[in-house]
Amino acid sequence: MKARSPNESMIEMNELVLPNDTNLLGNLLGGTLLHWIDIAGAMAAQKHSNSVVATVCIDSVDFREPVHVGEIVTLKARVTWVGRTSMEVTVEVFAEDYLRKLKRATNKAYVTYVSVDSDGKPREVPGLILETDEQRKGHAEAEKRRTQRLKRRQTEQN
Ligand SMILES: CC(C)(COP(=O)(O)OP(=O)(O)OC[C@H]1O[C@@H](n2cnc3c(N)ncnc32)[C@H](O)[C@@H]1OP(=O)(O)O)[C@@H](O)C(=O)NCCC(=O)NCCS
Repeated sequence: MKARSPNESMIEMNELVLPNDTNLLGNLLGGTLLHWIDIAGAMAAQKHSNSVVATVCIDSVDFREPVHVGEIVTLKARVTWVGRTSMEVTVEVFAEDYLRKLKRATNKAYVTYVSVDSDGKPREVPGLILETDEQRKGHAEAEKRRTQRLKRRQTEQN
């Protein structure tokens, strides 16, 4: 299986925040943002693995500032780590008030996907080619998050 660089599977997805996506204050619903994060991340993981993927873990996501109705949300998803059958995708979220030309980073999420075959069983994924110092640093940090996730999974299973 041919290893791929994160740039080969990178996804950029844009969404316009419509009234139906918001709470009574006109701010984007957390659940809707999580849905978009999951979709953007899954597309990157599917491109990397050339397969269908299943979400197995979304690390905690903080909602520090509201995103308002009428703003454009941009989600950038990149594969940051791969194991035998699983992949971590980092999804960065930006909100843009395009009338005032103001863009800000609002959230970052780490989502783990497993590549699955037609029976829904895990299948091997291609390796990840790290081309830049930033990608190598991101990969080392992802390795630490992976260790923490496995520890947590172990604790929950016991
Ligand atoms: C995806 C699925 C088939 C994997 O089956 P499984 O029995 O957990 O398989 P394994 O234990 O062999 O794990 C497969 C890989 O996922 C990783 N993994 C599983 N659960 C994980 C978790 N909670 N966090 C991080 N990694 C996890 C394993 O470490 C392993 O990685 P590796 O192959 O890269 O070393 C199964 O978990 C499943 O169907 N889950 C439901 C998926 C789903 O419906 N998602 C939508 C959300 S409702």
